[in-house]
Amino acid sequence: MKKRPRVVVTRKLPAAVEARLARDYDAVLNADDCAIGPDDLVSLARNADALLVAPTERIDASVIARLPASVRIVACYSVGFDHVDAAAAAGRGVAVTNTPDVLTEATADIAMLCLLGAARRAHEGDALIRSGRWGRWTPTELLGAGLTGKRLGIFGMGRIGQAVARRARGFGMELVYCDQRKLPAKLVHGARFVPAVDEFLAQSDFMSLHAPATKETHHFLDAARIERLPDGAIVVNTARGMLVDDEALIAALKRRRVAAAGLDVFENEPNLHPGYLELPNVFLLPHLGSATVETRDAMGFRALDNLDAFFAGQTPRDLVIPSAARNPLVREKQIPRRQGSSE
Ligand code: DGY
Repeated sequence: MKKRPRVVVTRKLPAAVEARLARDYDAVLNADDCAIGPDDLVSLARNADALLVAPTERIDASVIARLPASVRIVACYSVGFDHVDAAAAAGRGVAVTNTPDVLTEATADIAMLCLLGAARRAHEGDALIRSGRWGRWTPTELLGAGLTGKRLGIFGMGRIGQAVARRARGFGMELVYCDQRKLPAKLVHGARFVPAVDEFLAQSDFMSLHAPATKETHHFLDAARIERLPDGAIVVNTARGMLVDDEALIAALKRRRVAAAGLDVFENEPNLHPGYLELPNVFLLPHLGSATVETRDAMGFRALDNLDAFFAGQTPRDLVIPSAARNPLVREKQIPRRQGSSE
C-alpha cells in the first residue's frame, strides 16, 4: 500500500474534518488543542510532508527556514494567510494554500452584527439587563444610530466586502467602496467606487474594513485617517486587527470623535489593547467571523481538498501567490486580480 502523506495539524479541528484527515493521511492531530510554539512545530514537522495550520501559528521566515525538506506544503485553515511568510515558503519551494469562499457569508454576517451591535449599543443594553438596573422603558435610553439612509464605506471589495455590500443594501444603506480598482457593477451591489482613500473616508458614516493584512495596510486606520471620517462615524473591523492603530481608535472613541466601533479582530489576539475593555461604545467579539458549524467544517474540507490535489500531483485550487496584489491601497501596478483583491 502506498505510504500516506504525514500531515501535522496544529489545532483541534471539527470532528468531521479530523475523521477525513485520519482516513486519508498519516495525521498528527492535536487532541488537547495545546498551544504549539515555533520550536515545537519545527520538531513535530520532522518527517512530515505537510502542515495544516491556523492563524494562531506564526510561520515566519525563520520557521520556514528550519522546516525539514520533507515538508512541501503548508495548508492554512483560514482565508487570511498573513501568519505565513508565503514569499519565504516559495523561496524554499513550499506551497501555501488558504480557504477562500467558504467563510465569506459567515464573516459578512459577523460584520453586520458588529455594525448593528455598535450602532444600536447592543452590549450596553445587554449589560443593563444583566445588572438588574433596567427600570422601565424610557424614551431617551440608549439611543443609537440608525442604518437606513446612512453611507457605509467598504475598504477592500473582495469576496467578504461584496457580501457585506449585499447585506447592507437590505438595510437601506448607501454604499461606497475603496479598492485597488473599480469592480464590475454586478459584483458591488450598487456601491460607488471612491479610489482616493481620504475622500472615501470622508464619505463613510460607517466604515467597515475588509482588506488583508499586509505591510501596506498595517495601521491603515491611524489618527490622521480617523480625522478624515465624518464626526460620529462608526468603525467595524472583521478583517485583521493590525489594520487599526488601537491607540488612535481608543482615543477617538473616548472623545466620541468616532461614536462607536464593532470589532471582531484585534492586534495581538487574544491580548487585545486593554483600553477597549473600559469603553462602553465598543462592541467586542472574539474573532468569530467564520465560527459557524457549517463554515468551520467547510474550511477544513477546503484545506483537505488542497492537500489532496497537491499529493495527487495537481495544482491546489487555493495556492496563494505572495505579492502585493491583495492590497486595496495599491492601484498603480496592474497586477492581475486573483479571486478578488482582498478577503
Ligand atoms: C480567516 O479565515 O482568515 C479568519 O480570520 C479565521 O476565520
